[in-house]
Amino acid sequence: MKTLAIIGSQWGDEGKGKITDLLSEKCDYVVRYQGGNNAGHTIIVDGKKIVLHLIPSGILHPHCVSVIAHGVVFEPEAFQHELNRVMDSGITITSENLKISENLTIITSYNKILDAARENQGSVKIGTTGKGIGPAYEDKIGRRAVKLKDLFDYDILKKKLSRNLGEKEILFKHRYAVSFPTIEEEAERLFELGKKIKPFVCDTFSVLDKAIQNGSKILYEGAQGILLDIDYGTYPYVTSSSTSLGGIYTGAGIPESHVEEVLGITKAYTTRVGEGPFPTELFNELGVEIQTKGNEFGATTGRKRRCGWLDLPLLKYSVKASNLTSIALTKLDILSGLKELKVCVAYEYEGQRIDCAYPGIDLTKAKPILKNMPAFNDLFQGEPLSSELEDYIKEIELFLNIPVGIIAFGPERKEIIFRKDYFGIIKR
Ligand code: IMP
Repeated sequence: MKTLAIIGSQWGDEGKGKITDLLSEKCDYVVRYQGGNNAGHTIIVDGKKIVLHLIPSGILHPHCVSVIAHGVVFEPEAFQHELNRVMDSGITITSENLKISENLTIITSYNKILDAARENQGSVKIGTTGKGIGPAYEDKIGRRAVKLKDLFDYDILKKKLSRNLGEKEILFKHRYAVSFPTIEEEAERLFELGKKIKPFVCDTFSVLDKAIQNGSKILYEGAQGILLDIDYGTYPYVTSSSTSLGGIYTGAGIPESHVEEVLGITKAYTTRVGEGPFPTELFNELGVEIQTKGNEFGATTGRKRRCGWLDLPLLKYSVKASNLTSIALTKLDILSGLKELKVCVAYEYEGQRIDCAYPGIDLTKAKPILKNMPAFNDLFQGEPLSSELEDYIKEIELFLNIPVGIIAFGPERKEIIFRKDYFGIIKR
């Protein structure tokens, strides 16, 4: 296997960071292709916690080249802080191991102000991370975005910013009554940041093209999850990028035939941050127990994550939407020791039983049909998995018709079992 895509198969926060980190050790390139610093990947290395928002997880391995491709929306100040933080923790970052696309879209202050104003005063609250993601993608599609290469010429930058501010000025003054920086202030801020970022900037399309021609091992690191995809997700409660497989082709600029395997990172239960339907959500003490035990609080915003049982009809949809070829089942330790264990195997929907959450379904009306599973109580200290846990894994594999290739049961790198080979990591 030369190429692997890692994609969240639920609503994000499935534990992609740790798996990406482990697999990137075996890769030559790790590529981020969508989203921005709304993502938060927590990785524990030797007991030390490292949170990455924009920088690919490959950065933790010196031989690996990390690429931020043109499909990402990029907040230069957040990047600068992250860069300093990661370097302060002893990791070397140079223009050799970090490459940023000159064509990616900048998140301007105007994007962030608009995101916050809409969330605070708008009629539909999405529960965004407030990082300006949606407005930046709107500007990209509306052909008024500032691109990273624009930061290197002050006059061009000012022109681009005046288009970027454009109609927003009317909203800021007359709809939301919020203050905003002048074009000169914003241009100066971004121009200064551009100077610091410039060493990492290049044509990542050509970097990846060459890597593919050379037969390099490449890992595509998805942010968020398939159910937050702008097209495939639970619209409008989604993020504004293509988080599913298709996003790789447009966001990194690579040929379709190039991705060999797609690994869907799947939490052993379900969580969701922000608004939107969630059929298996638990509103009882068990939900709170899972939230507390699983430390289900956002790495980016600190918000509480809503918790519920594993939802197989939604997962079946994710498998179809992104052609998942295997699953990594994470956070099994959180379910271990619970008094009861259930899994959603179908919905009762408009008088019918359905086992796949196709997009036409109104999830607020889907009544989950839950199957009782024998609770497991594994310690994960090297002993064989209990038959109850094996049953849980088998239930998922049979339902989805793809293998559970990895199981993870803790934040440390070693708290994992490979049941399938990935990049030559031998299964145990
Ligand atoms: P935005 O991406 O900030 O526009 O937020 C849109 C929706 O996506 C909100 O419900 C967020 O909570 C959710 N979201 C964005 N990024 C993540 C993530 O990394 N994990 C989980 N949810 C996310």
